[in-house]
Amino acid sequence: MHQDIEKVLIDEEVIKKRLDVLAQKVMLDFEGKPMVVVALLKGAVLFMADLLRRVPLPMEIECLNVASYHGGTESSGVVSFLDNTMPDVDGRSVLLLDDILDTGRTLDAVMKKLREHGAAEVKTCVLLAKDIPRDEVLAADYTGFVIGDEFVVGYGLDYRGRYRNLPYVGLLKESAIG
Ligand code: IMP
Ligand code: MG
Repeated sequence: MHQDIEKVLIDEEVIKKRLDVLAQKVMLDFEGKPMVVVALLKGAVLFMADLLRRVPLPMEIECLNVASYHGGTESSGVVSFLDNTMPDVDGRSVLLLDDILDTGRTLDAVMKKLREHGAAEVKTCVLLAKDIPRDEVLAADYTGFVIGDEFVVGYGLDYRGRYRNLPYVGLLKESAIG
């Protein structure tokens, strides 16, 4: 285990097994539709790679660079789009991937944007969702794991740009947060 990690919450094997299940659900919903996957950088990168290799459907893969956290451990509530262009989603079914659903503002803002650009449907898929009170409309269509309201890193999730490459999801030691 990494020296800055207090505790592993979800290990690699458990994540992989859950991805098999999520992939099956995605297959059932997207089979026969013109599919575009839109993954949010950079948090969704590991999740995207491991999930999509389990989904043998024709698809295009796009990434969008958005920022909502700005480096701390609390959501800023402001979602910024860092790309100049949007992927072509006109008339297509979009699977929108992110690492974690916290307040839900990020996915909500991106979903609206994709609809404005003509997406026929947008389904949201997150590896993690925090167990906090949240409006029903902000729930994801597919959720890997529900976790407590705590700050986690690993498997794509960062603290100040670090720890994304850990193969598990874990809690940071107090001493690593500064
Ligand atoms: P939301 O807009 O509040 O749902 O926040 C979602 C974004 O905040 C995610 O894309 C993550 O980048 C970031 N985020 C939320 N919770 C955590 C966490 O526990 N660890 C690392 N990043 C997080
Ligand atoms: Mg992020």
